[in-house]
Formats: sequence, structure tokens, C-alpha cells
Amino acid sequence: MNMPSLKEARKRTNKEVITEKYKKNKELGKTLKNKTFHIKTYGCQMNEHDSENMIAMLKEYGMKEVEDFENADLIILNTCSIRENAHNKVFGMLGRIKHLKGIKKDIIVGMTGCMAQEEVVANTILNKYKWMDFVLGTHNIHKLPEIVEISFKERKLKIEAPSIEGDIIENMPADRQNKYKAYVNIMYGCDKFCTYCIVPYTRGKQRSRNKDDILKEVKDLIKEGYKEVTLLGQNVNAYGKDRKDNYNMANLLEDVAKTGIERVRFMTSHPWDFTDEMIDIIAKYHNIMPSIHLPVQSGNTRILKLMGRRYTKEQYLDLFHKLKDKIDKVAISTDIIVGFPGETEEEFDDTLELVNECKFDLAYTFIFSPRVGTPAEKMKDDISIEEKEQRLYKLNELINKYALENNKKLEGKIVDVLVEAESDKLGYLMGYSDTNKLVNLKGNEDLIGKIVKVKILEAKTWSLNGEYVE
Ligand code: 5AD
Ligand code: SF4
Repeated sequence: MNMPSLKEARKRTNKEVITEKYKKNKELGKTLKNKTFHIKTYGCQMNEHDSENMIAMLKEYGMKEVEDFENADLIILNTCSIRENAHNKVFGMLGRIKHLKGIKKDIIVGMTGCMAQEEVVANTILNKYKWMDFVLGTHNIHKLPEIVEISFKERKLKIEAPSIEGDIIENMPADRQNKYKAYVNIMYGCDKFCTYCIVPYTRGKQRSRNKDDILKEVKDLIKEGYKEVTLLGQNVNAYGKDRKDNYNMANLLEDVAKTGIERVRFMTSHPWDFTDEMIDIIAKYHNIMPSIHLPVQSGNTRILKLMGRRYTKEQYLDLFHKLKDKIDKVAISTDIIVGFPGETEEEFDDTLELVNECKFDLAYTFIFSPRVGTPAEKMKDDISIEEKEQRLYKLNELINKYALENNKKLEGKIVDVLVEAESDKLGYLMGYSDTNKLVNLKGNEDLIGKIVKVKILEAKTWSLNGEYVE
């Protein structure tokens, strides 16, 4: 057992980050061969990409993926801790799986992802979910095949989720879910410690990958026919700050753009580390997409301070307008939390005012959810849940209004779309525009995998309808 510890998870030291290479373990395999597995993924792109790594590792040992968890010999929940409802979904699913395990005694059940790194979750599992087979933390996913093999041999709960600052594991295989767009991690962990956020505790300290490893991965993806990469990290603008080679996010963006990949995206940006140098590079390279996710969280400076965000409303607005001025047709999306402890009606109005000024293309909005061990969990919160729900509703109305307004501006215009697949809408294909808008289009299947010009005929709040023009 290697239990996570909140106290350890808080620590940041100067310990050097080790980069290790993943290697297939030749000793393993016989037990795993031909067994089936199913991974359910919750949460962010980071988790999705971790699942891509886990799927590839299991396949390397001869395991086979199945679509229905009820047919799997191994079920893994790759979990998210960001809000209470992410937790609830996982515990709900575990209830269903327990029932299945009552019938199919041989199946193996494991948990990975951010919940695995939470001390409270690990304790709950130890006390109430003893029937599970393993809990594997975010720092250990390269050890998945080993823990699965042990689990098939000895049915006893194992928890391997130490709260360490973390290293970097290169060379993990990835079974990418999309043939044209790929996620590329550029860094792991986060040192920002926003007061509401669990991520610095579950993902360890900020560790940037070596630039040569990142560029090699991008070049290999180009050779495999990928058209788009999304550079991933909790706080990508801070890329390189933990390294000694004086190489920063602007340098990396430029070098990735120079590889010639057709589309480059990156997420998520923290306003704090967004430099002028980065803005100039984004504006300069046509293959860096004009689409930026820039979470504001609140439009009130007192609340921002309580959140530990390190910028004022005015500083956010300055950056926002600079991006709009310098980057042609840039679309900016954001995240907003309502009902942070102590947020008054007037302070919430400041958020509405900011939204009225920024008219975001898209926004993900949330009610504050206290996370165990974070400073905000202990802050006095006297706003009722009904009030918080009303604020969320009011905010969403405004967000939707501007999303539609922005989309309407595209009616009659021609936009570049990377066509990905057939759409859920019968007879249509789907893809994303340069500004990251979902586009349903009429066109032939042979357009899939290509970047094509599409004339926008109709705008909706969350998508656009159009037709292929060339
Ligand atoms: N409660 C509500 N929303 C949160 N987020 C992060 N932590 C919390 C929390 N405790 C939101 C932030 C972040 C997004 C990924 O999730 O808006 O940007
Ligand atoms: Fe991703 Fe954060 Fe959820 Fe972890 S807690 S899966 S980093 S969104």
C-alpha cells in the first residue's frame, strides 16, 4: 500500500525532476494476453490523454478493448476530482460495477486519475470499497500493466498512489482516439495553488517536458498524418519556468509552428503568464489557431484575490483586449465559477459586467464546489445553494446570448474546417473551424481528414451549419 497524503501533496521542494523512459516489461504478459478491458474516462483532456496511454499499454500486452464495460475482464475508472459531481458520477458507477462483480466474480476493477490521489477517497475505498482490486495514482500510470497482472493473480485491494511531486515518463505508447487531432502533453502538474483547486494536490508539481521530446513527438505525428496538435498542460503559459534552459512557451509555440503541422492549439492558459512575446508568436504564425481558452473565474477583484488568481479584473481586461487587437479574428473562451465563498450580489454583478464587455465565444460555468484540503474549503460560505443556482442560470443566459451573437457573425462567411467524422446529424459531416467552433456540413465522406473551406449557412448557440465550397 502506498496511500496518498494531503500533507505530502501540498509540499513543493527543489528536488530535481527525473525523466525516465517507459519500457515494456518482458516478464509480464501471459496473464494479460487476450483478456478484455474497458476504461471509463472522466474529466479533462489530460485525463483523456492518460487513458490513451493506458489503452496502448494494455494492448501491448495482448489485452483487447471492449466497448461495453459489462463484457470486460478489467474495468478501470479514470477519474476526476475537480468538482463534487465528478466524484458522485464515479461513486455511482462503482455502485453499478459492484453489482456486476457480484455476478461475475472474476472481473478486476481499478481506479486511476485524480481521485486516486485524494487522501479522503483512498480512505473511503479502504473502508467501504474493499472489493475493488487496485487504485493507481497519476504519477504511476506507467505501472498499470504490472498492477493489473498482480490483480489477476491475487484478488486483494492494492493502493499505489503516493503523493510525490512527480517525475516525467517519456516514451509511453498512446492509442489515440482521433486520427487527425492529437494531444501532446508539454508539462505536468501545477504550482499555482488557486485556493479552490484540487489539481496541484492530485497532479504534483509543475514539470515541463524537454523541448526536443515534444518536438520529436509532433514531428512523428505529422509523419503519421496528423493535422492538428493540442499542447496540453494545466497552465501551459508557464511552460519552461521550472527548467534551466531558458526556453519558454513562446519559443515552444514558435518551434511547434515551424514543424509545419497544419494546426497548433494549446490549453489551458493562465492570464498571469501570458507574455507579449507569446501574443506576437500566435499572431505571426498562420498555423497557430486563433482560439484561446483564458479562464477568468470571476469578474471581481476581491474574489479573484481570495481565489489566489494573482490578477485584477482590470488586468484581465487589458490582456483580453490586447489579444483581440493583436490576433486577427481570435475567439476567446473562458471558465467562470459562481458562488465562491462570500461572493456578494454586487460582486457577482461584476462578473456579469465583465461578460458584457468580453462577449466570450464560449464559457464553461460552474458553481463553486469545496474540495477537501484546499484553502477555499475552509472559507466561510453563507450563500444558499438556491442563490448560487440562480446566479449560474443568469450567467448562462448571458453566455449563451453572446455565443449565439458571435456565431451569427459567421453566417455567410467562409471558414476553414478540419473535417473529423460523420456527424450525429444524419447526412452531415462534422469538424472544427480554426476558431474551434463545431461545424456540421454537407459534403462527401472523402473530406474526412482534410481541412476544407466551408460556407456557414446557419448559426446556432453551440454549433454552425454549413456547406463545403472547396
Ligand atoms: N469548484 C468549481 N469549479 C472549479 N473549477 C476548478 N475547481 C473548481 C471548484 N472547486 C473550474 C475552474 C477551472 C475549471 C477547469 O474548473 O473554472 O478553470
Ligand atoms: Fe483533469 Fe483537474 Fe479533473 Fe484532474 S481534477 S482530471 S486535472 S480536470
